[in-house]
Amino acid sequence: MGALAVTKPYTMPALSEYADVPARLRVDKVSLRYQSPKGETFTALDQVSFEVPDQQFAVIVGPSGCGKSSLLYLTAGLAEPSEGEIYVGGQKVEGPGADRGMVFQSYTLFPWLTVRQNVEFGLKRRGLPSNEINTIVEHYLGEVGLKNFAGHFPKQLSGGMMQRVAIARALANDPQILLMDEPFGALDSQTRLQMQQLLLRVWGHSKKTVVFVTHDIDEAVLLGDRVYVMGARPGRIKQILDVPIARPRTLDVVMEPEFIDMKRQILGLLHDDLAEVH
Ligand SMILES: Nc1ncnc2c1ncn2[C@@H]1O[C@H](COP(=O)(O)OP(=O)(O)O)[C@@H](O)[C@H]1O
Ligand SMILES: [Mg+2]
Repeated sequence: MGALAVTKPYTMPALSEYADVPARLRVDKVSLRYQSPKGETFTALDQVSFEVPDQQFAVIVGPSGCGKSSLLYLTAGLAEPSEGEIYVGGQKVEGPGADRGMVFQSYTLFPWLTVRQNVEFGLKRRGLPSNEINTIVEHYLGEVGLKNFAGHFPKQLSGGMMQRVAIARALANDPQILLMDEPFGALDSQTRLQMQQLLLRVWGHSKKTVVFVTHDIDEAVLLGDRVYVMGARPGRIKQILDVPIARPRTLDVVMEPEFIDMKRQILGLLHDDLAEVH
């Protein structure tokens, strides 16, 4: 396999490292099969099992079509596994719930609501007192640098700003876990770098458990505590790698040998998978 070979033998990271912290997310032997109109079965996820410890920034990376979005939909309770179970905070996922915040690649703000109204939407539905809502909304608009845009409508915002609102809206609901599906995938590379820094800062303050899906290896290594590398056909977890890079991380980190070594390992794994397919 030449230059992309993974030189170090893989050993499963010791979960004992996190033994005193309960898993915030537990995916237990989850399979997902789709039925084609002709009746053929397609296995999108095959016996996927892993745990994400509380407050961890977990990144799932894998080729297009390996089931990354499916895994997040199942965790969000928007679809049901064909086999297996998913637990969030020890509770089995049996449908959608406010305990799981989602940020998608496509812009999902309510276009008829202002920035402020978008962020307070879930809080109002939960019937929180208005002074409490105001405090929370002010806090998260501040966190994402949009206090001066509270009265704007989504169509008046750039793509990066819309995703900042989506992050504020998700966090305002104080979810147990934040599920992010290629949230910066549609942004230009400069904005993407800014958003990665913003997310690291906001996450550092909130200490939420994050499951972040991307197919961008740099993004995975920059953001993650752990990188869960998936393979395709059928979709499965190939390896779980700890990212041995201290925080806080700035953009300079991409030049560090540890960063480049992680990238090489992940590339090797993804390369293996491509070799298997073709
Ligand atoms: N509703 C569906 N019906 C049939 N196949 C689907 C459906 N949704 C996704 N798939 C297939 O399942 C696989 C995994 O999809 P997805 O989770 O979107 O992958 P990823 O997000 O990693 O690109 C893909 O091969 C996709 O074509
Ligand atoms: Mg996807």
